[in-house]
Amino acid sequence: MFYTLKWETDSVSFIDQRVLPLEEKYIKCSDYQQVAVAIKDMVVRGAPAIGIAAVFGVALGVVKSKKDTIQGLKEEFSHITSVMRATRPTAVNLFWAIKRIEDVFNISCLETNDVNKVKEKVLSVALAMYDEDANINKMIGVNGSELIEDGMNILTHCNAGALATVAYGTALSVMRAAKQQGKKIHVYADETRPFLQGARLTMWELMKDEIPCTLLSDNMSGYLMANNKIDIVIVGADRIAANGDSANKIGTYSVSVLANYHKVPMYFAAPLSTIDLKTPEGCDIPIEQRSLDEVRVINGKKICPEGANAVNPSFDVTPNSLITGIITERGIIYPPFNESIRSLF
Ligand code: MRU
Repeated sequence: MFYTLKWETDSVSFIDQRVLPLEEKYIKCSDYQQVAVAIKDMVVRGAPAIGIAAVFGVALGVVKSKKDTIQGLKEEFSHITSVMRATRPTAVNLFWAIKRIEDVFNISCLETNDVNKVKEKVLSVALAMYDEDANINKMIGVNGSELIEDGMNILTHCNAGALATVAYGTALSVMRAAKQQGKKIHVYADETRPFLQGARLTMWELMKDEIPCTLLSDNMSGYLMANNKIDIVIVGADRIAANGDSANKIGTYSVSVLANYHKVPMYFAAPLSTIDLKTPEGCDIPIEQRSLDEVRVINGKKICPEGANAVNPSFDVTPNSLITGIITERGIIYPPFNESIRSLF
């Protein structure tokens, strides 16, 4: 069995998602700066996983702080959280998780003058958030599995699996629950250029769990839909705006347009922590732009002429009009999302 991330006595370890599936190796981060680099460099990735990674990074910084006064610890805390917030901009789970640990820290500082008590509190809440994430994902799976019928072919994009969370995943949790209920399913996984989360990570997870699956390159799902090979699309999300517009890995929007054209139901699976009520619409979601070499280079080899220009937006936004439903730990919601999203909180 593997784990995505784990708290150790004085460090946090991550499975290195940059080298899967060829190598299964773990990376130990012994300070919060190393955790921030691990998030930025995508050693750990996926919205819920980076939220918990950031909280573990904050906890590591607090636990290892040499400050012996509450005021000193407060100043250091503020620096640590700003480093964590600057890692990746799109997945709101990161900001949600940091805000939650920040509230715990601030209340704790009001309640005691004992620096060690504050450290203990921050660590205990970070560990509780880790367990909570696994439980929430399990519920998403149970709720979403009611959409899955025996014999269904499911398309997914990117990796919304255990590797993107503490455990189970979001979209993949639905598939895991369906399999557990004895339903025969088959999953198509988009390769997901340029980081290849689908080819490297989703296929690895599904094959480990013996869920029948097939890899396709990103330009093939239209062909499959036109030939009635896809019954449902289920993907994860990085940020869902208050009106239901949903950001997910680049390419999801194209899949949504195709699904809509071919009348294939299009579902997003995400915890409530991915819903950002402060962002009214999809156009307000910040889209991370990553290094152009992620597009120009594969496995260390340039695949285009020297000096070629490229673009690399890491996410795109699917408008609510193309979304059939959103699967959450509190149930599945349907349009109008402006109303159904609010009813969840
Ligand atoms: O750039 P990544 O790999 O962090 O992007 C991940 C995704 O887009 C996932 O689909 C999303 O975070 C949902 S994970 C349960």
